[in-house]
Amino acid sequence: MSESQAQPTHVTFSPIETEAGRLLFSQDCTFLMGAVSMDHMPAGDVSEVSFAGRSNVGKSSLINALMGRKSLARTSNTPGRTQQINFFTLHNRLMMTDLPGYGYARAPKKTVDQWTDLIRDYLRGRVTLRRVCLLIDSRHGLKPVDKEMMTLMDGAAASYQVVLTKCDKIKPGALDRLINGTRKELTKHVAAHPDILATSSIKGTGISELRAALATLADGDQLM
Ligand code: GTP
Ligand code: MG
Repeated sequence: MSESQAQPTHVTFSPIETEAGRLLFSQDCTFLMGAVSMDHMPAGDVSEVSFAGRSNVGKSSLINALMGRKSLARTSNTPGRTQQINFFTLHNRLMMTDLPGYGYARAPKKTVDQWTDLIRDYLRGRVTLRRVCLLIDSRHGLKPVDKEMMTLMDGAAASYQVVLTKCDKIKPGALDRLINGTRKELTKHVAAHPDILATSSIKGTGISELRAALATLADGDQLM
């Protein structure tokens, strides 16, 4: 067995880390605003985590699952519905942003160009951005457009982590193979975090692990 095959595919967290994640996400989360340019973004004074991925990958659903809420972030069956960067604040400890989805085949070139400009500005200019969760549909794996996004984040020195979505839709063996294959690709990207998280917003799989991972990036509790 080669070394990469011997690595466990699923990331584990200690009970303390898991509890920190549970506590963080049990606090109030509010939708702050949507922004279409850097000038309109809220003040960056809290650590920030962003959710990026192709249209329809499940970004808004994952944010709702993290919060244990049904409709904080708007979900839809229409690809490309979220057109602006939506900011959510988690009790002044973590800002979360839902980025507009990319890779929608029928999007006009002007929309794609506007998207690329906005995302590039955001990745480069948002000093409080601690990590981007790059959501990948587990049924499809990394697509060329995801690799373009990874290259954009490498260029912006924006640290990112792959989060697989819709894992309820694939078998465990296929998931392990996907994780191993994706991990190999990540080694080619300088800003990629090596750990891959597997989630299902519908079943709740991997949500407590993602909460624990994000809690390590949050600011301290001012009330403690
Ligand atoms: P845009 O904002 O348009 O880019 O989409 P999005 O990435 O925010 O996706 P959204 O959360 O709106 O979900 C898109 C579709 O995928 C919806 O029909 C969801 O119900 C479905 N979906 C999201 N997460 C899951 C999941 O974990 N499992 C399954 N089976 N379906 C999911
Ligand atoms: Mg969305």
